[in-house]
Amino acid sequence: MIDVCDVNEVPVGGGRAFTIAGRRIAVFRVAEGEVYAIDDRCSHDEASLSEGDVDLDELCVECPMHGSLFDLRTGKPRTLPAFTPVATYRSEVRDGRIFVEFSA
Ligand code: FES
Repeated sequence: MIDVCDVNEVPVGGGRAFTIAGRRIAVFRVAEGEVYAIDDRCSHDEASLSEGDVDLDELCVECPMHGSLFDLRTGKPRTLPAFTPVATYRSEVRDGRIFVEFSA
């Protein structure tokens, strides 16, 4: 797994994009020690999903451009206009750091 950042660099209830091995990955922190990582680029167009609003109850993020809701656990869109899933990456918080599993 790749050591991405200190856990506090991603606010609870928010997301942040990181470039890992040349790929933009959005990391979302939904609780103190619970994170999800998905591709940052929306599958519909060029929007950055890390800039979307996170629904902590539904565990999804709303694309800031056209509003598709993406499930943080599966990467699947729940609403149109996006219909293609984005990639997900196993991630965890360990010793105060966020780790993401990524193979180029
Ligand atoms: S760019 Fe995300 S729904 Fe259109």
